[in-house]
Amino acid sequence: MKIPKVILVGAGPGDIELITVKGMKAIQEADVILYDALVNSDLIKKAKATTKCIYVGKRFNKHKFSQEEINQMLVDYALKYGTVVRLKGGDPFVFGRGGEEAAFIENQGIETEFIPGVSSALAVPSSQGIPLSKRNISESFWVITGTTSNGEISKDIILGSKSNATLVILMGLRNFSLIMNEVKKYRHKHTPFAIIQNGTLPNENIIIDTVNNYKNVIDTIDYSAPGIIVIGDVIAEHPAFLDEDIQRVLDLAY
Ligand SMILES: C[S@@+](CC[C@H](N)C(=O)[O-])C[C@H]1O[C@@H](n2cnc3c(N)ncnc32)[C@H](O)[C@@H]1O
Repeated sequence: MKIPKVILVGAGPGDIELITVKGMKAIQEADVILYDALVNSDLIKKAKATTKCIYVGKRFNKHKFSQEEINQMLVDYALKYGTVVRLKGGDPFVFGRGGEEAAFIENQGIETEFIPGVSSALAVPSSQGIPLSKRNISESFWVITGTTSNGEISKDIILGSKSNATLVILMGLRNFSLIMNEVKKYRHKHTPFAIIQNGTLPNENIIIDTVNNYKNVIDTIDYSAPGIIVIGDVIAEHPAFLDEDIQRVLDLAY
């Protein structure tokens, strides 16, 4: 008789080697795995042949299952099969609805365990060599959603723009123009920003420019790929920023 249990596991930002050792062990021992859209599918291949692996992902509001159905599946599968791994992109508690799922499962009297993951908010800029904090340049960083549950941009983007913090905006590409319009009101016009897509994966892509030029990059964004927006002077650390700036100066001169 197996004891029902649900383990919320962070799968990391994309690269399968960026899952924790503990997370990988949970995958290898699971009876059932429910996994999301941004989880690298190669991680699922590490499960036992007998493990039931179920895709429950959603992208761009296209849901295979509602959140309520997923909550119920976690409980039902744990009662029927034993250990269920709920595998989520990045860290389950960073814009991952991990808290809601945990509350539901615990309310049903089922044991839960949490295995943190490497969040894209930290790992994606880091993989590009962009420091989120830097002595004398940025004393803090804010991780903000670019799209709230009603589709609007978060008011925290305005608050963050008024500070000197590095802004790390998830789920913001579809509201990119609205976001940059707000940022422009409060930050100096040469403030650099970066859009990093498919971070830590072989097809990772970065776009770098300054706030006053944000309209130039709108057509180069791949709206089908996950991406984060990083805004702040720390981006001047990236070699592409220098290259692009030099190019702009040359363009002006000739
Ligand atoms: C629903 S949130 C989940 C975040 C996740 N829990 C985490 O900690 O990374 C999904 C958003 O994370 C960001 N994201 C996740 N993986 C990414 C990646 N490999 N490259 C760029 N952005 C990524 C994108 O902004 C995407 O829209």
